[in-house]
Amino acid sequence: MNLPQTHRTLLLTSRDQPPTITQQPTPQPTPGSITLRVLASGVVSYSSDVFTGRRPYPFPTPLIPGVSCIARVAATGPDTTSLKPNDLVFLDPTIHARDNPAYAMLIGLHAGYNDVSPQLMEGEWRNGTWAEYVRVPLENVCKLNEGRLLGELGYTVEQLDLISALVVPYGGLDDIGLKAGETIVIAPATGNFGGAAVTVALAMGARVVAMGRDAAKLEKLRERDPGRIQTVAVSGDVKKDTEAIKAAYGGEVDAYFDISPPQATQSTHFKSCIMALRHSGRVSLMGGVYGDVGLPLAWIMHNNITVRGTWMFTREQRERFVKMLEGGLLQLKDWEVKRFALEEWKEAWEFAEREGGTGKMAVFCP
Ligand SMILES: NC(=O)c1ccc[n+]([C@@H]2O[C@H](COP(=O)([O-])OP(=O)(O)OC[C@H]3O[C@@H](n4cnc5c(N)ncnc54)[C@H](OP(=O)(O)O)[C@@H]3O)[C@@H](O)[C@H]2O)c1
Repeated sequence: MNLPQTHRTLLLTSRDQPPTITQQPTPQPTPGSITLRVLASGVVSYSSDVFTGRRPYPFPTPLIPGVSCIARVAATGPDTTSLKPNDLVFLDPTIHARDNPAYAMLIGLHAGYNDVSPQLMEGEWRNGTWAEYVRVPLENVCKLNEGRLLGELGYTVEQLDLISALVVPYGGLDDIGLKAGETIVIAPATGNFGGAAVTVALAMGARVVAMGRDAAKLEKLRERDPGRIQTVAVSGDVKKDTEAIKAAYGGEVDAYFDISPPQATQSTHFKSCIMALRHSGRVSLMGGVYGDVGLPLAWIMHNNITVRGTWMFTREQRERFVKMLEGGLLQLKDWEVKRFALEEWKEAWEFAEREGGTGKMAVFCP
């Protein structure tokens, strides 16, 4: 496929300046990479904080922001073997150094949590998906069964970008081996990724105790599946909340999934969720909490609790998650996806911040 000489992008020149629409040279595929035509690219709820510097994520400027996306293959490289032009694909945004996968960064968002991965984002993999085209490593591209997803299951391309939100908690839930029939407490459940975790845990066959501060949002969440979602509002009283979590189904709580934002460092829910677990319970920590959180260490030790941290998801997990979606196991009818043009970046960021956690997601359709 012939690529145009230039393409439209949303370019961030500095954290102090608003992004602007600019024409940039269209990225060409090289050995080991592929160029995608972006169809729908999600907007995380904290975009405005990140791209204005209020949340100090490391990334170089100028930058085309934008993380995972649904796209079509626009041009293949000399070593592409299986992907073909026009294939419908999901872009996995976590780029690992090929000579040491422990060094990782997120395309269009975050240069990574070490001294080495920023070099990947400084050069080769700088630009993200808020653009017509993006060049990405071959191994980050996951082919989707278009006939099944758009045809038989009737999803729209924009709805498919919910994969971006849903596959993240799948990484943590899979890492702690969540099983069908188990009970899991998810906190906070009223955010974008928290709500996604509820959807995924249900699809994996678990019962959910959804925890959060906002009773109205919790009730809206419970209405998605009143038989398998119970809610507990954070009261600030650790003992009371621990008992409420245990009482939700009157049985054992097997696991706890956490996806807290930085603001939640002082929240009491960490302790009450852990102490509600049964003996040998498991904890998945996926929240972006940078402060130190006090944990009941002796209690964790005496109760053989496993605590597991997860950043994003593995290639195997993303393939398994897509099979779940193609198998029709995910219930997406409660989610609403709103389209935005790149010019509407401000409205999209505001929508994502305001509506995150209410089952609504913003996507750019460049
Ligand atoms: N590990 C990973 O791979 C990974 C990937 C993506 C994101 N994350 C992390 O996940 C975090 C959450 O993302 P999100 O998109 O779900 O955020 P979000 O939509 O902004 O939701 C934030 C959630 O945190 C709750 N909250 C806010 N302030 C709180 C406080 N002081 N105490 C207790 N709860 C509080 C909110 O509850 P209310 O409804 O009561 O306001 C809401 O449920 C992000 O900040 C990011 O760092 C991690």
